Amino acid sequence: MKFRAAVAGSDGIRLTMESALTARDRVGVQDFVLLENFTSEAAFIENLRKRFKENLIYTYIGSVLVSVNPYKDLEIYSRQHMERYRGVSFYEVSPHLYAIADNSYRSLRIERKDQCILISGESGAGKTEATKKILQYYAVTCPASDQVETVKDRLLQSNPVLEAFGNAKTLRNDNSSRFGKYMDVQFDYKGAPVGGHILNYLLEKSRVVHQNHGERNFHIFYQLLEGGEDDLLRRLGLEKNPQQYHYLVKGQCARVSSINDKNDWKVVRRALSVINFNDNEIEDLLSIVASVLHLGNVQFAANEQGNAQVTTENQIKYLARLLGVEGSVLREALIHKMIIAKGEELVSPLNLEQAAYARDALAKAVYGRTFSWLVNKINKSLAYKGAECPGWRSATVLGLLDIYGFEVFQHNSFEQFCINYCNEKLQQLFIELTLKSEQEEYESEGIADEECLRPGDATDMTFLEKLEETVKNHPHFLTHKLADQKTRKSLGREEFRLLHYAGEVTYIVTGFLDKNNDLLFRNLKETMCSSENPIINNCFERTELTDKKRPETVATQFKNSLSKLMEILMSKEPSYIRCIKPNDAKQAGRFDEVLIRHQVKYLGLMENLRVRRAGFAYRRKYEIFLQRYKSLCSETWPTWEGRPHDGVSVLVKHLGYKQEEYKMGRTKIFIRFPKTLFATEDALEIRKQSLATKIQATWRGFYWRQKFLHMKHSAITIQSWWRGTQGRRKAAKKKWAVETIRRFIKGFIYRNYPRCSENEYFLDYIRYSFLMNLKRNLPKNVLDKSWPTPPPSLCEVSQLLRQLCMQNMVWSYCKRISPEWKQQLDQKVVASEMFKGKKDNYPQSVPRLFINTRLGTEEINPKVLQVLGNETIKYAVPVVKYDRKGYKARVRQLLLTQNAIFIVEEAKIKQRIDYANLTGISVSSLSDSLFVLHVRCEDNKQKGDVVLQSDHVIETLTKTAMSADKIDNVNVSQGSIKFTTGQGKEGIIDFTSGSELLIAKAKNGHLAVVAPRLNSR
Ligand SMILES: Nc1ncnc2c1ncn2[C@@H]1O[C@H](COP(=O)(O)OP(=O)(O)O)[C@@H](O)[C@H]1O
Ligand SMILES: [Mg+2]
Repeated sequence: MKFRAAVAGSDGIRLTMESALTARDRVGVQDFVLLENFTSEAAFIENLRKRFKENLIYTYIGSVLVSVNPYKDLEIYSRQHMERYRGVSFYEVSPHLYAIADNSYRSLRIERKDQCILISGESGAGKTEATKKILQYYAVTCPASDQVETVKDRLLQSNPVLEAFGNAKTLRNDNSSRFGKYMDVQFDYKGAPVGGHILNYLLEKSRVVHQNHGERNFHIFYQLLEGGEDDLLRRLGLEKNPQQYHYLVKGQCARVSSINDKNDWKVVRRALSVINFNDNEIEDLLSIVASVLHLGNVQFAANEQGNAQVTTENQIKYLARLLGVEGSVLREALIHKMIIAKGEELVSPLNLEQAAYARDALAKAVYGRTFSWLVNKINKSLAYKGAECPGWRSATVLGLLDIYGFEVFQHNSFEQFCINYCNEKLQQLFIELTLKSEQEEYESEGIADEECLRPGDATDMTFLEKLEETVKNHPHFLTHKLADQKTRKSLGREEFRLLHYAGEVTYIVTGFLDKNNDLLFRNLKETMCSSENPIINNCFERTELTDKKRPETVATQFKNSLSKLMEILMSKEPSYIRCIKPNDAKQAGRFDEVLIRHQVKYLGLMENLRVRRAGFAYRRKYEIFLQRYKSLCSETWPTWEGRPHDGVSVLVKHLGYKQEEYKMGRTKIFIRFPKTLFATEDALEIRKQSLATKIQATWRGFYWRQKFLHMKHSAITIQSWWRGTQGRRKAAKKKWAVETIRRFIKGFIYRNYPRCSENEYFLDYIRYSFLMNLKRNLPKNVLDKSWPTPPPSLCEVSQLLRQLCMQNMVWSYCKRISPEWKQQLDQKVVASEMFKGKKDNYPQSVPRLFINTRLGTEEINPKVLQVLGNETIKYAVPVVKYDRKGYKARVRQLLLTQNAIFIVEEAKIKQRIDYANLTGISVSSLSDSLFVLHVRCEDNKQKGDVVLQSDHVIETLTKTAMSADKIDNVNVSQGSIKFTTGQGKEGIIDFTSGSELLIAKAKNGHLAVVAPRLNSR
């Protein structure tokens, strides 16, 4: 084949795959299709046996998985095992449930077609276990999200609850499903499980009130008694001992070593919370379970009339409480029967047998309906939330069918009849879907003509007669009457025998009609309708009471629901798991050949194999085949324009399929050998790798280009936006500027008008800018006389501000001034008052600071100081004294104290002039430094006025005038100064200005002083 060459390139992969294959095949063959002698049943069973002994319980017939119950835990369901099967081609790994599960899942994802996995086999063959394992596989391997986790949990946890209420120990299986279950798992487009839905089929209610020897009632009863907390049991009025309850002791095996009711109870309690049960609902549910047990213990005795009376009042009390009904009403309902005849209600008492019947019917009805309620409740918690949103893509579903298996007991009743009928139907479906299309001669063995189940009006026996009449000619139907002499012995009069696909089953007709009618007396129904237990109330609807129509019989309901199931299954892509039970003893390692051969036969496995081998191992609609493999041929890749049929032709020719390897049908291609398909699959796998690389590269290119384009687009958008913004801002600014300028000009034009809308802005602005300008250019100090020119409107304000400013500067200047400096200034002020503009040498003194004193105490004779005592010297200065007569100049010191002026010569005080006696001070207006102290002369001690000269005349006089407080008595004279001497004589000093200082006695006897002219003058 051409594509082999392509495959050879990856020798490595191929080699590892082959070694894995041989390792797998060491024990028998992993696919019966590969059996040398495929027609031999012995070889088939030998292969099963060989593998079973090595714990290889799974073997394929093509794509059908045959599973043999190992009855022991095998280490093949771990997480690692799940991972090994995940996404791997069906044929690359050893046969396993997981391979089937994964294959269905992948078909669902790839083809988006609903799938179903049909698990068949007789009771105890491992169907329920297989279902659970498949569910676990999906829970672990499917993609998940937060919401999905809860869905997964609920899907898994619905099992223990349903098993507790719907499974029981039978002779065939310690955990036998007593109801049929079809579970849909819904997957979203990402392949995550997002919801689920369960359909339940006919629960074997009769088990509630009766169990065959060696069997038990439903698990929940024992679990509750074993595991329930003391408190709970007390509330429910129950005792821990199952032997106390009539409904639990019929099979005489309440305790079974393989079942741990206590543990199971914990599992169930936990599961109930996972699937959304709140505490109230759990209490209500368990109340019903308990009420069934109490009902079982209700006893009757007959009164004289033979009418039944309740003798167990205690039970009625509990029942009333648990079911939320009136005790008396319930009691009466249990022992009476109400019929409506011609529109009138007739109540008649029941005899013992009838009362027991009514009680059991109530127990069954209560339990059966509660079970259906439970399934509904679980469905609500599993519901796919997405389905409620219109516009969401609908989920694809994968169905798991786990229905009670074919079973034969010593006594087989209506339940077995229904169960086996159901299995018969499924077998038919299996045949139809796998074999029949190719093998027209395959004989459908189905019987169970539903017509025979139309109830006759009288008894079970008349029903049997009617049955005999209707189907007497059917080769698979036999009764005592119809049988020949030999077989007649093995059939009772009330029995009929059916030859099922899985073997003969003899049914006892007793109870058939009752069970079929499933009769619950009207008054009991009514009582239940008034129940205050919300579950019971929900299960019994009042409309049932008013409904005139005769209710459908159990068989009809069952038949209808089954035919609906068949439709569901037919609409899906099926996968098959055929479970085989290796022995009847539930024992590990025991391979009962007879039993197994029987199952191989009735399951039609040999036919299945033969068809696989003779026919075509693989077939697919052209569209689907082409879709899957078109990438392997350049002409069909990436799209084939013509008919799919032609496309497939081209494709297989390209792949080098040989003539005998395949056939082209009307709508499908048939491939004879699995190996052809494996090779194609392998080639696809390799092709996928390279395609994936290509797609990745293309995608990356595309992705980055998109990213780049997106960024570019974003950049341009931002740029243009920014430019726009900038432009708009600029324009706005311009507009604002133009308006402002315009306003200005207008304002300027109108500036001298009174304030109006044209000039107000301008005026405000002028004011504002004046004030701002002023703020920036305030005078720095008191001497700084600058001041901005105010606009007319602010003249007054400006003036006020200017004053304020000046005041402020002065104030702050004053605040900074030291006391010494103040004193200095005070003196300077006084000096200025006295001499400014009056005496020529005054200006020279202005910049020279006045000194505190010109002579230190060390320069004054201590004797003088001693005489002065505590009269402190405030000022001392060297002076020259001119004698009053000869005007001789003598060096003296002038001292000022608190009270007087002292003229001192060395150690001698020459003259003391008290300030009070100082009448004035005279000085010339010229630049000389002579001055005269005028002294009051009344006092003889006084020597008269004193003519002195100080080099610091301004300072000396200022201090003297201030000390003596004679500021106003300083007299600046032009020309001459007169003075008096001690004896009332006068002297005169004449002042003239000349080039240099000259002090001398003039010829006229005056003292002539020539003061130099100063430059400033
Ligand atoms: N794959 C398995 N591995 C181990 N034990 C199994 C397996 N399948 C079934 N069993 C055992 O067989 C018993 C019956 O299986 P079950 O699935 O309930 O049968 P069915 O549903 O077909 O009646 C289980 O309780 C379990 O003990
Ligand atoms: Mg089961």
